[in-house]
Amino acid sequence: MKSLIITSALPYANGEIHLGHIASTYLPADIFTRYWRHIGREVYHLCATDDFGTPILINAEKESITPQQYVKTWRDCDLKDFRSLDISFDYFSQTSSEKNIQLTQEIFNKLCSNGHIYEKDVIQFFCEFDNKFLPDRYVMGRCPFCFSENQYSDLCENCGRVPDKILEPRCRICGRVPVKKTSKHYFFRLSTFSRQLKDWLTTNHNLQSDVRSYVLKWIDDGLVDWDITRDLSWGVPIPRKEATGQVFYGWFDNHICYISSFLSFLEESGNNNGKEIWNSSEIFHFIGKDIVYHHYLFLPAIRMGIGYEYKLPDYIPTRGHLMLSNRKISKSRGWYIGLRDFLQLFPSDYVRFYLARVTPYSQTDINFDWDVFIERINNELIANIGNFIHRTLSFIKTAFEGIVPEASAYDDIDIAIVNRISGISNIVGTAISNNEIEKAMREILEFSTALNRYFQKKEPWQDRQTSPNTLYISANAVQSLSILLEPFIPISAERIWDQLNLTDNVHNQEWSRASRLDMSAHHKIGEIQPLFEKIEKRKLNLDKWKVD
Ligand code: 2FM
Ligand code: ZN
Repeated sequence: MKSLIITSALPYANGEIHLGHIASTYLPADIFTRYWRHIGREVYHLCATDDFGTPILINAEKESITPQQYVKTWRDCDLKDFRSLDISFDYFSQTSSEKNIQLTQEIFNKLCSNGHIYEKDVIQFFCEFDNKFLPDRYVMGRCPFCFSENQYSDLCENCGRVPDKILEPRCRICGRVPVKKTSKHYFFRLSTFSRQLKDWLTTNHNLQSDVRSYVLKWIDDGLVDWDITRDLSWGVPIPRKEATGQVFYGWFDNHICYISSFLSFLEESGNNNGKEIWNSSEIFHFIGKDIVYHHYLFLPAIRMGIGYEYKLPDYIPTRGHLMLSNRKISKSRGWYIGLRDFLQLFPSDYVRFYLARVTPYSQTDINFDWDVFIERINNELIANIGNFIHRTLSFIKTAFEGIVPEASAYDDIDIAIVNRISGISNIVGTAISNNEIEKAMREILEFSTALNRYFQKKEPWQDRQTSPNTLYISANAVQSLSILLEPFIPISAERIWDQLNLTDNVHNQEWSRASRLDMSAHHKIGEIQPLFEKIEKRKLNLDKWKVD
């Protein structure tokens, strides 16, 4: 059985994790990983911080600290945020690690030997006062389209366009007018990979078809070679004497970190066969749709350029953006929900449940709407799932002194629900393995609705004769729910498991157990408590997000 290597796009070590990142990337990857662990597959879930780049250097300079210190602060923060949301990475590295620097340089050398790199002079802004080349973000000026002042030379935040030639350029550090100077840069011949990329995109049927078709169109429109050099001090040094003071562009080294983290993870446990294992595994790179170009063209072309020494991804699960109350999230305008703020108000499983419930396997943008969020938590998670679990366990407590009763011959209603339990692990499992987490969650909800109906129909409070069957089957269905829910809401699943007083823990259970009624009669359940607390909107302070 092949191992699975699952990577989540690397967050820049430059700001807090917000719900948009969670919805498009980290949560879907985590649900997927957790599911495959239940199946018993060898799974590696990897991530790292993306440490390099101009914005990080500028921010560090602003705070008068080194970029290393700046990166460490954000990395610690990110790790804390991921932990608080129970994202279960097996390894969390960073692009500035020694291993990544070494592998990036090695890959560059191989690309050079294989003829995929060339040098070219480029004209760059240069500040004679600061004595440095000024990459895009270091140059501010007037936007040539909307004429607003103080815009980046590579992005106008007012009109959203990319200026081809900024007006009235100024050095961002000292405010002086920069001059233009020639600098030698390395270019990656992306354009020569058009044919190979096209073949790969058309023959790999695991790639989402909506993404594939527009990537193919980009190829038809013509690919341009990539300038992989930056005249900066913060980045992976270019291993050439003549390139002193220059580093690689962050998008040259960051995706290499998928590979270097995997190799480091194995090496740290004494396994030096990383390359062989990488090449015999199924590879998944989970991303948001804003980085399609990099993952469907640039990343595969680089792996092709080194002779497929590290295999290409089998899947690149790509999801849309999260909107907040139907408006595009914008960190610079403060229109976003930081994970930390959110987790001050609600348990992590609420955000996991809601985002899983609304995030399809496509590039369609999804919306975070406070009313829908509250409604789904109260009506689905609590009034449906929570209700079934709590009513079953309380009934066993009060009517059977906490002991699962013995079942006798099933009637037709029992048989129907037992059949439902027998099929549920396959139904939910298939949806998750197809990456359809939203569908999987819907299936669990429908299953729980059927269980509530069953309980209601059997009226165990009326009929002492048939109630043991109802409670025996229902108690086992609670066990099923605990396992089925684990990838989605792991903390709550663990609490359900504890309330059932089952041995070991829910995270280690075989997935197929969710379809088995193997909790025997006479089993004593544990202490019970309501699992969830209803959200009352009037008690919430949502001012920050301008919600009425
Ligand atoms: O867009 C971003 O946030 C990048 N830091 C993603 C990097 S993913 C990679 F490493 F390929
Ligand atoms: Zn200057």
